[in-house]
Amino acid sequence: MWLFMSETIDVPLAGVESIPEGGMRPFPAGAFEVLVCRVRGELYAVDNTCSHQEAKLCEGRLVGYRITCPKHSAQFDIRDGSHKNPPAYKAIATFELTVSDGAHYVRVPARKPAPNPGIGPWPMPRR
Ligand code: FES
Repeated sequence: MWLFMSETIDVPLAGVESIPEGGMRPFPAGAFEVLVCRVRGELYAVDNTCSHQEAKLCEGRLVGYRITCPKHSAQFDIRDGSHKNPPAYKAIATFELTVSDGAHYVRVPARKPAPNPGIGPWPMPRR
């Protein structure tokens, strides 16, 4: 039987309150590195790894809701992780942030999913 529900864990984010407006900071969170950004007073959490060639997005630039990868300048919207221009063609993951007793947490899958092999290049037929 296949299970499609994944287990999640809530990881505390110590010091997240001190991220300034327009700022961002990476946090280790289970199998992930999460990048927490503050825009217009709200906090957003995305995967810190670019979906193109795995550069650290925390080394890029955040302007408004868009983060630009430092390696090849792909851009992502931190609200939903969607990619906005090539060379990235896949979104980045976003994560839920919660507050409990005044402490901030990020909810991440307990395990990192296997990489998606994607489509192509198709193998050449053998003759
Ligand atoms: S590694 Fe991010 S755009 Fe290439």
